[in-house]
Amino acid sequence: MDSDVSYNYQGKVALVTGAASGIGLATAKAFAVAGAAVVLAGNNLGDIQKVAKELAENGTQVLAIECDVASEDQVKNMIAKTIEVFGKLDFAYNNAGVMSRNTETSDLTTDEWNLVIGVNLSGVRNCMKYQLLQMKQQGHGVIINCSSMGGLRGAKGLSAYSASKFAVLGLTRSAALEYAEQGIRINAICPGFVHTPMEQTVSGGSLDVLTEMAKMVPAKRFCEPEEIADSVLWLCSSGATMVIGQSLAIDGGITT
Ligand SMILES: NC(=O)c1ccc[n+]([C@@H]2O[C@H](COP(=O)([O-])OP(=O)(O)OC[C@H]3O[C@@H](n4cnc5c(N)ncnc54)[C@H](O)[C@@H]3O)[C@@H](O)[C@H]2O)c1
Repeated sequence: MDSDVSYNYQGKVALVTGAASGIGLATAKAFAVAGAAVVLAGNNLGDIQKVAKELAENGTQVLAIECDVASEDQVKNMIAKTIEVFGKLDFAYNNAGVMSRNTETSDLTTDEWNLVIGVNLSGVRNCMKYQLLQMKQQGHGVIINCSSMGGLRGAKGLSAYSASKFAVLGLTRSAALEYAEQGIRINAICPGFVHTPMEQTVSGGSLDVLTEMAKMVPAKRFCEPEEIADSVLWLCSSGATMVIGQSLAIDGGITT
């Protein structure tokens, strides 16, 4: 999908979690194209390092950090390393997430529940905590949290996922109110169906299922990861200075 929008983020430092694939990868690349130094974080060091190598070869200042966002200690270390290397953190996109198994709520195990809540909700909370401690010191910063259309309405069979994504919006809005006066803007995005590895787990890789899903979208197609990245970069920009505590649906009209 061609974009006619560009940003100048020279001198900025952007952190993306879950940066090895899908939306996180597209967003990390978009920050790099805009000239930012990029911190790539994820729970799969090999994949993160591969992306870091590619971006560095194109002249981007990069830092690859292995981090399980569900671990507060690892997140604390991720932010400490970022500051050690780049000295500040301008933009953070808290993107890392997992899908829950498609099943009735009564069939979901406690371990499955804990995993989804641990990554999708506590992971975002852990990241925000240490990002905010740094951004308060700097006196500025932008945080974007990844929710979902599953955070705006119920998702049959995916109650843990949906619950985690609804909660991300509560966290986003409450913190946005706390930090608005301190020069820190916090927003959330709510993607619809996006062509990524996660979407493959929902469709089971079936083209027929994907075609049926696309029919549910008013725009009659899936979003591309780059279209989600575009919105993240816009929310970081001086074009969005009074956008605070919002939940931006990027879903081809599906939740309208
Ligand atoms: N694809 C969609 O249709 C869709 C729709 C709405 C929201 N989302 C959200 O977008 C975000 C990105 O998902 P995606 O679609 O690009 O899928 P994806 O599976 O490609 O990306 C998720 C990334 O998060 C990383 N990750 C998983 N657990 C982690 C952990 N504990 N710590 C650190 N990193 C971890 C994975 O390694 C992966 O790189 C997720 O939060 C997802 O819920 C996706």
